[in-house]
Amino acid sequence: MKIGIDKLGFYVPHLYVDMNKLAVARNIEPAKFTIGIGQEKMALAPITQDPVTLAANAALGILDETDKEKIDFVIFATETGIDHSKSAAVYVHHLVGLNPHARCIEVKHACYGATAAIQMAKGHVALNPESKVLVLGSDIARYGLNTSGEATQGAGAVAMVISADPKVIALEAQSTYLTDDIMDFWRPNYSDKAFVDGKFSNEQYILFFSKMWEQYKEKTGLDLNDFEALCFHLPYTKMGMKALKTVLDEGTEATQQRLAANYKISAEYNKNVGNIYTGSLYLSLLSLLEQKEDLQAGSRIGLFSYGSGAVGEFFTGILQAGFQDHLYVEEHKGLFTSRTEVSVPEYEEIFQETLPTDGSNIEFNIDKDPAAICLVGMTDNMRNYVNKLR
Ligand code: COA
Repeated sequence: MKIGIDKLGFYVPHLYVDMNKLAVARNIEPAKFTIGIGQEKMALAPITQDPVTLAANAALGILDETDKEKIDFVIFATETGIDHSKSAAVYVHHLVGLNPHARCIEVKHACYGATAAIQMAKGHVALNPESKVLVLGSDIARYGLNTSGEATQGAGAVAMVISADPKVIALEAQSTYLTDDIMDFWRPNYSDKAFVDGKFSNEQYILFFSKMWEQYKEKTGLDLNDFEALCFHLPYTKMGMKALKTVLDEGTEATQQRLAANYKISAEYNKNVGNIYTGSLYLSLLSLLEQKEDLQAGSRIGLFSYGSGAVGEFFTGILQAGFQDHLYVEEHKGLFTSRTEVSVPEYEEIFQETLPTDGSNIEFNIDKDPAAICLVGMTDNMRNYVNKLR
């Protein structure tokens, strides 16, 4: 039985910062951000969007009534969760109106979480072939104003329906994975901003990729020429290219050109969104599928997932016949073209707006937020959400 991604959607908040302007404000040469790091625009979440609403908006864009009935498992991957106890999946389950007879959980391991969720979903579908699983990867990446990580912030979510006989990409059985207890990026419970050893993290990302790639080749007998494209977890778009370059010369001239060209396409959405942690790899896959016009069914796509701390996985999928008919190209294009740019001072103000932590109540005006699902405030330490379409 084939199991894989039946539907793939995403949501990005409606505000962004231009990286050239951020660089000027920080007295940095703009080319460092746009070329050295490879980012053009950074998505910014207003106070009325949090990881729950981002994920719910992503799910709302792809689910039909049959999905809502058949989904019996919701797995929410995040490293910027809103509660230490209640899972964010339960909120989304309610906000998008899923069948009550569903399991809802949250999973975590840095940017690897959504990959763990997909593997768990595959197991569930293998045992229950009629079931569909909703996998969500949603995060708001915050390093802080004037920090070296600032240029690699972002916000957004992906939503995926995992099922048997998937319409977009069937995931192959063989994958390789690795864990090593390292401190390259972490966020203690008391901090709303991440700590990162950037250079060490870059090194470990590449080391993980090379170890898993070698193991994958040994396990499967496949090589670089068997791939149409490799998609990477992208904390910033230069990162995946650094890893790809370490293996590129293993391919023929044609393979090298194909993989380099497809990498560029796969980084396009990420370049305009920034880091969305758990969703970044799948945003990159989406960028490739939605923007490369001549992708052929039957092509093999490699996926490299890396979560600092660290857990990584290399796995693959085969594009399914007619997959193009099951993408949301126009809707996603609309998300990008309808965004509003904010100035650097406006970004700084929005960045510093936070929810009360002393139990006081607050209510937000959501008129300026075009999202269907918004955070409207807090009462008695509880977040209040609304789905405007109801
Ligand atoms: N024009 C073009 N490129 C330039 C440039 C210019 N004017 N100035 C600098 N650069 C290049 C540098 O050469 C470097 O490229 P390289 O990595 O290929 O050597 C790149 O820009 C970044 O410069 P660097 O001095 O290393 O930047 P930094 O010390 O500010 O750190 C990060 C950059 C990415 C390491 C930092 O933003 C970070 O830690 N981000 C978080 C990373 C992360 O998310 N890791 C965890 C998940 S995997």
